[in-house]
Amino acid sequence: MTTFAGRLRLGVNIDHVATVRNARGGDYPDPLRAAKIAEEAGADGITAHLREDRRHITDPDIEALMDGLSVPLNFEMAATPEMQQIALRHKPHAVCIVPEKREERTTEGGLEVAREENHLAHYIVPLREAGCRVSIFIAADQRQIDAAHRIGAQVIELHTGAYCDAFAEGDTATADAELEKMREMSRYAHDLGLEVHAGHGLNYDTVKPVAGFPEVMELNIGHFLIGESIFRGLGPAIAEMRRLMDEARN
Ligand code: PXP
Repeated sequence: MTTFAGRLRLGVNIDHVATVRNARGGDYPDPLRAAKIAEEAGADGITAHLREDRRHITDPDIEALMDGLSVPLNFEMAATPEMQQIALRHKPHAVCIVPEKREERTTEGGLEVAREENHLAHYIVPLREAGCRVSIFIAADQRQIDAAHRIGAQVIELHTGAYCDAFAEGDTATADAELEKMREMSRYAHDLGLEVHAGHGLNYDTVKPVAGFPEVMELNIGHFLIGESIFRGLGPAIAEMRRLMDEARN
């Protein structure tokens, strides 16, 4: 039976506050301060991706977020031994395993869970045992969902990048096809017992159709919100996203 619990959560990704800080060195602007504003504006969680090259979030940021946040931290990481150790030290509410290439500008695609099934199945055991909810960032592809389910992940996050890119290019046919795939696969994953999240590239123009899928329990949004905060301030930028999500859901 299909049941849906709770309201659609918004996870605010604050990586790019750190990008701006790191452009000059020093400690301004502070990602934790941004995270506190996000909490006040209605974020249900904060997401931060500690990359291997530390291009934005750094180890002290993770420490500060763990100490200073009132909402759960969703710790994005590649499936490396180093990141596993860091996650086990901090025990964030959730870890989201993402693919990572040094040369990419952002997380370009979903994780190939099906290809790395053995490694990932072992990799996530200590994370689950430490009490972290394990989420796997994947394309809306049944093979990847089945593999995520088999390895024991509790959550999948569907990569919305292909839909958002097609929308930005004015390619409505592709955007609609991507949405349809996500609609179908969020149902499929939910029926397997997985919690479904979604994110990447979402903005005010693209958020509503995804927010409207009843199986999707959480959206993680970063780059657009941090960009938009230049024009309207971080709190109002987030509040508007929250409003659109609620509108789509109701
Ligand atoms: N979800 C995951 C797993 C991501 O890797 C990212 C980007 O770091 C996001 C959501 C947020 O994407 P964006 O910054 O484009 O909103």
